[in-house]
Amino acid sequence: MCGIFAYLNYNINRERSYILQVLFNGLRRLEYRGYDSAGISIDHSSDPNSLPPSLVFRQEGNIESLVKSVYQEVAETNLNLKECFAHHAGIAHTRWATHGEPAPRNSHPQSSDPGNEFLVVHNGVITNYEALKGTLVRHGFTFESETDTEVIPKLAKYVFDKAKEGEGDQTITFSQVVLEVMRHLEGAYALIFKSQHYPNELIACKRGSPLLLGVKELNENSSSGSAFHDDNFLSKSGHPKELFLSSDANAVVEHTKKVLVIEDGEVVHLKDGGVSILKFDKGKHGGLSKVASVQRALSILEMEVEQINKGNFEHYMQKEIHEQPESLTTTMRGRLLRGGSCKAKTVLLGGLKDHLKTIRRSRRIVFIGCGTSYNAALAARPILEELSGIPVTMEIASDLLDRQGPIYREDTAVFVSQSGETADTLSALDYALENGALCVGITNTVGSAIARKTHCGVHINAGAEIGVASTKAYTSQIVVMAMLALAIGGDTISNQARREAIIDGLFDLPNKVREVLKLDQVMKDLAKQLIAEQSLLVFGRRYNYATALEGALKVKEVALMHSEGILAGEMKHGPLALVDENLPIFVIATHDACFSKQQSVIQQLHARKGRLIVMCSKGEAASVCPEEWESCRVIEVPQLEDCLQPVVNIVPLQLLAYHLTVLRGFNVDQPRNLAKSVTTQ
Ligand code: F6R
Repeated sequence: MCGIFAYLNYNINRERSYILQVLFNGLRRLEYRGYDSAGISIDHSSDPNSLPPSLVFRQEGNIESLVKSVYQEVAETNLNLKECFAHHAGIAHTRWATHGEPAPRNSHPQSSDPGNEFLVVHNGVITNYEALKGTLVRHGFTFESETDTEVIPKLAKYVFDKAKEGEGDQTITFSQVVLEVMRHLEGAYALIFKSQHYPNELIACKRGSPLLLGVKELNENSSSGSAFHDDNFLSKSGHPKELFLSSDANAVVEHTKKVLVIEDGEVVHLKDGGVSILKFDKGKHGGLSKVASVQRALSILEMEVEQINKGNFEHYMQKEIHEQPESLTTTMRGRLLRGGSCKAKTVLLGGLKDHLKTIRRSRRIVFIGCGTSYNAALAARPILEELSGIPVTMEIASDLLDRQGPIYREDTAVFVSQSGETADTLSALDYALENGALCVGITNTVGSAIARKTHCGVHINAGAEIGVASTKAYTSQIVVMAMLALAIGGDTISNQARREAIIDGLFDLPNKVREVLKLDQVMKDLAKQLIAEQSLLVFGRRYNYATALEGALKVKEVALMHSEGILAGEMKHGPLALVDENLPIFVIATHDACFSKQQSVIQQLHARKGRLIVMCSKGEAASVCPEEWESCRVIEVPQLEDCLQPVVNIVPLQLLAYHLTVLRGFNVDQPRNLAKSVTTQ
């Protein structure tokens, strides 16, 4: 979790107010990654001959609390906002607490000493921090925070001081300091270092957590694919530049589309307008040993600034729910073929084409994910089993790891993750790779760790999802997995009609979602009725068991209302005891092969005076909820091919969760205690 950001301007005059704005905006873009405290560090003075300590601001609460406190301090100390810096390096952090409560002392930047000689912002967790802390305490360091991060700047100072003691006048470079620090760190991290000993320089490094560099070159005819390496470090130095370091592309795209995705083990040094990259390799015994200079090309972000704005919507979650017809269209673009000379209907998933034969020969397919991504895989499971004939098992990533469950060479392990960075899913991926399975990634984030580490995969192309509660990624994930089922499943005469019906259904899906979105007001009215409830049960089965789990997850995570998704077939085995005339129960009973079973569930709930809200296919209200059942509410949704029905059915529940949250007065985009991308285990 946590978002880290840095801005470095080289050879361009920038006022302090501008530098602050860039840092604050960067943090606002990353706020969804954590929002319990925040901090920045900027330079005190633009005078190259005076190097007073960096200024550090840290504040509990969200970014706006930080902004307010910074401007208050600026006013109180008469800090000149108009002062211009030809070169300036600033760092920033937004936090989701792991070690230590949200408080200024636990916020980042964390510091080496009261003089702030070394400052660090960190995303991740240092697992050996206690041992490091013990050693540093023995060397006379005192700690102020409860964070794992504080050992990092202190270690940097220790390394720096030791080098100075030993080498007299010969100074250690900033990258040598950081390389030495990295050698001692265990765990997952993306780090940005700033130091008054190395003014106008920044160092970024990472292992496990995401980080990218954005490059905006001014007055230069540069093109994509320009490479940075040691040789051109100085040759690049004259050009005015703005450089950005960020946990993700959202905070960079408004400045530049030229980026470099930093890889594990890399140390990126920004100095004199140049960028040099050193790479740490694991030595024979697992430790970091060899260091080599690396040449890397910039890539171009395929992302537009509009994607990260709210447009005409009040909240990101609302925008993302309503843009599902478009995100689904983008997910399917170029992948579904219909017509042509042979009139065949088929699916093309380029990222899988070299591996389809192996997948078809698998002994089993294992879906692995967390939260909403797991639910999406669960929704796709029946169609994959039906079309491929291969057994499909489900694994919540953390549970697979806890159990060290069996994964075989003959397995295909499919990793589903919107962010592509979720720590549990990533560790499960490492585990499956170690066990020799073919690993397939389904993610929304090009260049993410899961996309890079898997053998092959499919991007869901849903566009940036910023609301912490996943909505459009869920529906796009289901569609990708339905296409995966079509791609894996054999094109036999016996299943031709079914395949064609699914492909037709996919073509029609954006329209059906557009139609179901018209229920917005209906769901808002329902939310008004449920606003004061303590609890909501959601019953579903087969394709819509996942809808029940996902609908309940949405309600609980944003509306902060207890909600439970229940497999309707399990009703009699316990949950029925909860039913009375007060508890609202949402039953998903759209028309499919299990419809009559759901009718009987509804009857049984009604017989126990259950307070029913039933979702059914258009025109079937009377068969789920007879007119004389006055208290029963019906939500009618458009019907389509059973395996695609979950895509439509989740939308009213997303709308319900959204409206409940707004009506209850909670922050819908940043639910309490959560963060978008869970990069710690
Ligand atoms: C819920 C939600 C989470 C994520 C889960 C996995 O709305 O967003 O449950 O689905 O943390 O995240 P990804 O998909 O990024 O691996």
